[in-house]
Amino acid sequence: MIESEKLADAPVERTASDGDGRVVLSARDVVVRYGGVVAVDGVSFDVKAGEAVGLIGPNGAGKSTMLASLGGQAKAAGGSILLDGRDVTKLSAYRRARLGLLRTFQSTSEFGDMTTFENLVTAGNGFKGASLTSVVFHRKENSRSDREIAGRAWEMLERFDMTHVANAYAKELSGGQRRLVEIMRCLMTSPKLLLLDEPMVGVAPHLVEKLVGDLCAIRDEGISIIIVEHALEVVRALSNRVVVMSFGKKIADAPYDEIVNNREVQDAYLG
Ligand SMILES: Nc1ncnc2c1ncn2[C@@H]1O[C@H](COP(=O)(O)OP(=O)(O)OP(=O)(O)O)[C@@H](O)[C@H]1O
Ligand SMILES: [Mg+2]
Repeated sequence: MIESEKLADAPVERTASDGDGRVVLSARDVVVRYGGVVAVDGVSFDVKAGEAVGLIGPNGAGKSTMLASLGGQAKAAGGSILLDGRDVTKLSAYRRARLGLLRTFQSTSEFGDMTTFENLVTAGNGFKGASLTSVVFHRKENSRSDREIAGRAWEMLERFDMTHVANAYAKELSGGQRRLVEIMRCLMTSPKLLLLDEPMVGVAPHLVEKLVGDLCAIRDEGISIIIVEHALEVVRALSNRVVVMSFGKKIADAPYDEIVNNREVQDAYLG
């Protein structure tokens, strides 16, 4: 677990980010199986616009699998996933990403042999057009110009204090910088919801607070976040609500302060 006393002590401030009440994502009775293992066992929860939801639980509880089912990397054997009210359960990860549902992974996934800037531009380019039909019929409206994408990439670098590593290869960056590149790549596509799997892994302890601040700012812009994180002080600082999983099931769904006093949650952690 990452030590960050400052974060643990900081008062938790809530802004307009407590959401505008609109449900962006709805998971309903989601089931995911790996052979005989039921990794996610009938999990349901909603995420509102601008809301950050922490997804916690002991090792093997099914948190990463839940994220994968939402992102489209793991097939749901049961239940449904709605994005802005639209059933996306059968859509590929790529199609969900086009609709604004983006996932980062437990290990970093940016391109090491590209520079920071190139990483951002390729992320933006991936979303340049839309479907073939819309490219043919609405090309002007849907395609972003290369210049626009480069400008956006540069704005992103400035915003996250990363201009000094714009031309560094991603593989040369620190763990925290690589995490940030990964998140910035998602932001290049104007997401509605980010699914973050242990984003603080590999981030130097003194930079955790900065990354949490960046994530709070992203949330406050109205982008919803689901964060899987073992560092509970990070979950506390960022999340409006916390969903707890144990053995594939949801065992609690409440604000952080209620979660820590919940007997079932304490038992799950003490095992
Ligand atoms: N690709 C896979 N094939 C088979 N079983 C898997 C696979 N991925 C996960 N599992 C199993 O599914 C269950 C849930 O795993 P998952 O990785 O979702 O847990 P987690 O909560 O993310 O754990 P951690 O905190 O260790 O990352 C575990 O029993 C795990 O062994
Ligand atoms: Mg995991």
